[in-house]
Amino acid sequence: MAAKPPSTIMLTVTLLLMCTGFATSATRCPDCGTTEVPYPLSTGPSCGDQSYKVRCQTGTGSLFFDTPNNTYPITSISQTTQRLVIQPSNFLNNNTCVTADVSYQGLQLNQTLPFNITSGNTIMYLNCSESLLKSPLNCTSTSLCHSYINNSVEASSCSRAPICCTFRSGGSTTQYSIRVRNGGCQAYRSFPNLDYSLPVSRWPAPGVEIQWMSPPEPLCSNQTDCDASSTCLLSSTGGVRRCLCNTGLHWDAIEGVCALDDTCENRGDCSDSNRTALIAGLTSGLGSALVAAVIGFLLYKRHRRHKEALARLAREREEILNSGGGKTAKIFSIHLFLLKQL
Ligand SMILES: *[C@@H]1O[C@H](CO)[C@@H](O)[C@H](O)[C@H]1NC(C)=O
Ligand SMILES: *[C@@H]1O[C@H](CO)[C@@H](O)[C@H](O)[C@H]1NC(C)=O
Ligand SMILES: *[C@@H]1O[C@H](CO)[C@@H](O)[C@H](O)[C@H]1NC(C)=O
Ligand SMILES: *[C@@H]1O[C@H](CO)[C@@H](O)[C@H](O)[C@H]1NC(C)=O
Ligand SMILES: *[C@@H]1O[C@H](CO)[C@@H](O)[C@H](O)[C@H]1NC(C)=O
Ligand SMILES: *[C@@H]1O[C@H](CO)[C@@H](O)[C@H](O)[C@H]1NC(C)=O
Ligand SMILES: *[C@@H]1O[C@H](CO)[C@@H](O)[C@H](O)[C@H]1NC(C)=O
Ligand SMILES: *[C@@H]1O[C@H](CO)[C@@H](O)[C@H](O)[C@H]1NC(C)=O
Repeated sequence: MAAKPPSTIMLTVTLLLMCTGFATSATRCPDCGTTEVPYPLSTGPSCGDQSYKVRCQTGTGSLFFDTPNNTYPITSISQTTQRLVIQPSNFLNNNTCVTADVSYQGLQLNQTLPFNITSGNTIMYLNCSESLLKSPLNCTSTSLCHSYINNSVEASSCSRAPICCTFRSGGSTTQYSIRVRNGGCQAYRSFPNLDYSLPVSRWPAPGVEIQWMSPPEPLCSNQTDCDASSTCLLSSTGGVRRCLCNTGLHWDAIEGVCALDDTCENRGDCSDSNRTALIAGLTSGLGSALVAAVIGFLLYKRHRRHKEALARLAREREEILNSGGGKTAKIFSIHLFLLKQL
């Protein structure tokens, strides 16, 4: 019970920190239509982190992910895993096996930005040239892309293009791009976290899963850009000034806030952990004491047996000296033997 007041104070401090507003540049952006825009994604110059730009189409309330030459609708966002899914380009029309972004060489992310393609996408290259047969991709006639083409309405035109290939994203070649081009493949489809046991008819909608790197603390030019939980200081990396969290707080890159350090005082469970430590200490202490006592007792018993044997031996020797004769000499040697055994 004695530990309750400090934890209540800490809770109040936490709530205060959460309510008094964060550093201005670490503000979460307003929802886009009904879609939440988690930190660090930024839909404007006054919210989010400016390296994590996405576009909110205000009229429709739709979010878009812009690449240098193209744009893709965002279909889902997960703040905790720092991932988002974009909808890849569709086929140019229902009669060709060519995706609409072929003129931009497919999906091409800006490599200087903190986004990359995750390793969770199953990608199918369609309408490929024969040169792909020499690639490490699975372009065999049993490759999953053939099941997809055979069983999907949207890709039915690809059945007239004999070569397709399947692979998982994640290598260095697909870190920032899914490339379609003349001389390579003319179309692609991507499915995030695909369960291969499902029939094609139950596959999810096509999507490309993209992840973002943890954002550093927000930039600042002076203290007015930061809130009470942080101080505008020269950062150890990059030679720029950032709102660095004050002592006792640390940068939570997922929530974009200075959060209380994870100490038992802040969690309010110090007494519990102290009690546990005490019990553990007592238990191990008692254990060692018991072991020591047992060893001591055994040593003492052994010592006493030794002493008794010596006394008996002395008595026997005296008897032999007093009487003399073979029988007693034999007893003496037996006792000598027993003494050596101790
Ligand atoms: C990529 O992003 C950087 C940083 O925002 C920007 O300066 C550059 O112009 C972008 N490149 C292209 C091709 O858009
Ligand atoms: C493609 O087919 C779908 C139905 O399967 C239809 O809704 C759509 O308008 C067609 N698109 C074109 C460009 O023909
Ligand atoms: C495959 O791509 C070529 C362009 O290289 C295109 O002319 C052809 O129509 C495509 N095949 C199909 C079946 O759409
Ligand atoms: C993207 O656009 C820029 C200019 O807007 C152009 O120079 C570049 O070649 C384009 N890249 C692709 C892959 O189309
Ligand atoms: C290609 O994929 C199919 C279906 O997943 C599989 O059965 C086959 O063994 C793969 N072939 C190669 C060469 O990886
Ligand atoms: C796809 O269909 C073709 C022709 O109907 C057939 O030969 C092939 O075995 C099928 N492939 C798969 C993987 O279902
Ligand atoms: C993408 O970026 C993350 C975070 O920096 C990194 O851990 C991951 O290895 C990158 N993924 C790929 C496929 O390069
Ligand atoms: C702090 O920086 C802002 C611009 O970010 C500027 O308008 C303001 O005058 C500065 N304040 C001080 C005290 O330097």
